[in-house]
Parts: sequence; C-alpha cells; structure tokens
Amino acid sequence: MTINWKTTLQTSASVISLIIVLKELYSLYTKSTTKSPSKLTLLSPRTRGIESLIGNTPLLEIKSLSRLTGCKIYAKLELMNPAGSAKDRVALSIIRANETMGNLTPYQDNIIFEGTSGSTGISFAVLSNALGYKCHICLPDDTSPEKLNLLTALGAELEPVAPASIVDPNQYVNAAKKGAEKVNADERDSRKAIFADQFENDFNWKVHYETTGLEILEQMGDERVDVFINGSGTGGTIAGVGRRLKEYDSSTKIILADPQGSGLANRINYGVMYDSVEKEGTRRRHQVDTIVEGIGLNRLTYNFQKAEPFINEAIRVTDEQALKMAKFICINDGLFWGSSAAINCVAAVKTAFKYGPGQKIVVIACDSGDRHLSKFWKQASKVSNDITLNDVLNED
Ligand SMILES: Cc1ncc(COP(=O)(O)O)c(C=O)c1O
Repeated sequence: MTINWKTTLQTSASVISLIIVLKELYSLYTKSTTKSPSKLTLLSPRTRGIESLIGNTPLLEIKSLSRLTGCKIYAKLELMNPAGSAKDRVALSIIRANETMGNLTPYQDNIIFEGTSGSTGISFAVLSNALGYKCHICLPDDTSPEKLNLLTALGAELEPVAPASIVDPNQYVNAAKKGAEKVNADERDSRKAIFADQFENDFNWKVHYETTGLEILEQMGDERVDVFINGSGTGGTIAGVGRRLKEYDSSTKIILADPQGSGLANRINYGVMYDSVEKEGTRRRHQVDTIVEGIGLNRLTYNFQKAEPFINEAIRVTDEQALKMAKFICINDGLFWGSSAAINCVAAVKTAFKYGPGQKIVVIACDSGDRHLSKFWKQASKVSNDITLNDVLNED
C-alpha cells in the first residue's frame, strides 16, 4: 500500500487547525458562561419606581466593634432605603393600606398628614411625590435644619410647632390629626385626607415584622441572632423585628437602647415610665431632653406596647456616649451615621461586655450623619480622632 504523504500532511494540518479553533471557541464559551452569571447575581434586577427600591437593605459587620469585643456586631443599613431611613417601609405600607381601604386615591390632590420629627416626614414627602399625593408635615420647630430644608426641597407643606407634651392640642402629632380632620369635615372640599398616625398605627410594626425581621433572619443564614438592639421612637421597628426574631428563636434577647431624658428604659427595667429629670424639675424641653433625634419618649404608644412583651431589658445611653461612639465608628470604620445608630452601637458594646465574647449582635442603622450635621454632628465633630472604646464607655 502506498501512502500519499502530501494528502496525509494536509489532512493532519486541517485537523490540528480545527482542534485549535475549537479549543479557542470552547475557552471563549466557558469564560462567558462562568464569569457573567456570578457577576449578574450581584446586581439587582432592573426595576421601576422609587417605591420598588425600599427594603432588602444590607447587613454589615462593624469590624472595629467586633474586633474589640470578641463578638460579631452587625448593623442593618436602613439608611440605604431610597429616602434614607427605615421609615420608607412604614410610609409605603401606610399609603398602600389606605389605598386599599379607599381612603386615598392617587393624582386627586389627596393629602397625607403626619406628625413627625423628621425621618417619617421625609419618607412620606418622597413617596407622596412618587405616588401622586400631597404631603403635610407637622413637626417640632427645633428639628434639625437639614431635615427642615430637605422637606422644603421635596415640596412638602410644613407646619413647625413649639415642642409640647402630647396632652397639648398643638403638639405636632395632634396638629397633624386636626389638619386631616379639618379637610375631611369640609363638605365643599372634595379632597380626601389621611392622618398617617405612625405612633398608633398597626401597619407600622407589622411591616417590620413582615420585612425587616425576616430579612435579618435570612441574612444571618446559619448564624443565630443572640441579641437584637434598637431604640424606640414609635416602637414600630423593635416591635416588629423583636416579635419576628423571638418567634423564630425564643432565646434571642431583645434589648431597648434608650437615650437620656426618655422614660422608656425605666418602664422596661422597673415597670414605671419615669426619667430622673421629672423628679428634679430640670426638663429643658417638653419632649425628651437629649441631643439624639428620633428615639426616646415619655409616653406609651400603641407600637411600643406591641414591643413590650418581647423586650428583655433596656440600656440607658448618655448623649456624651452617643457623640463619642458616632466619632469612633466614623474614624475607625468610615461609618458616618446618625444619633440613633450611635446609641444602638453603645448599647451593643455594653451588651457584648456584659454577656461575653462570641455573641452575634444585630443593631439598626436608621439614618446617616448627613441629617444631623448642624446639631448632633456639630458636637460629635469636636470629639478627638484618637477616641478609644474605653473613652466611649467611660461614664459608666
Ligand atoms: C433616626 C431614627 N432612628 C430611629 C427611629 C425609631 O424607629 P421606630 O419609630 O420604629 O421606633 C426613628 C423614628 O422616627 C428615627 O427617626
């Protein structure tokens, strides 16, 4: 048999070229199928409308506090909601519920009234614009200028009132209720109005039970939550998250972080709503004597009552400690947070030292430092960059 070398060489060259081309094509294919999907899973899907961005906030470990306590301390970044706080969840839930009940119809000049010292008002102002409503906010006239300016920029109607006790008809929550009632009582006025009533409203704690609490459980995965810590403004967050976490694991501790001047800590620890300034008669302001905004109260609200059965203990935090902690996590972790988040972090560190290393502690970071620049952060800025965790807790 004679071998045709020329044909054999040509055929072999063609086969080798084909193999090289196929190999190249295969490597291109595997690159595209192994890289792209993992990249895509980190991206949120395409979406529509600002309301669709509410919730699913990250859970972040605060590295410095974990390292220095031997615990794992995580913060749920509610400040990453589109209008900047946990209140986005509450505002959206109240609007949707009132639409379902027929109390609100979009693009009919319907008005949402709310009494709020800031965050909830900002959430309602943003969502009113997005969903076709007008927004009227009653708030204490000593609310930080950032919040007042932001609400004005967002186009909300503002009604600043003097800080007053809840029994005063002109207190900001009562003023909002009166405003909504007036619109609805006027027969010549075809507009509808609602009083959102975040303090007494069932939709408040429920949305945290349905979303925030569940998200924390999902994000913690196999790790159990030993302790959840939060302050109480309306009480909605600690009620909803506390209930969800306790139902999942009854040994999870729910701890209230309470600022100076608030009576809630005493109520939890001793059964009586009381703060020492009541006795001393030194109260400077009618609401709560603290530089911290958004948490602390001297009355029992419906949402706080929903939280009480799940709260194991309360920790008092002074303004001084909150200011120092805000600066500490800013300098050590790059976390520029608001005053209620700082209070929660102080309580988390106290809890870590009380119960020992290994605890998994979750707190809420409700809003950013941007909203507190002229009041809380004006003082926190003066704290030394070299502040230590011991200095933060020094007063105890
Ligand atoms: C900045 C800030 N942190 C914490 C809270 C407390 O949340 P909750 O009302 O669910 O108790 C509020 C409430 O307004 C707030 O504005």
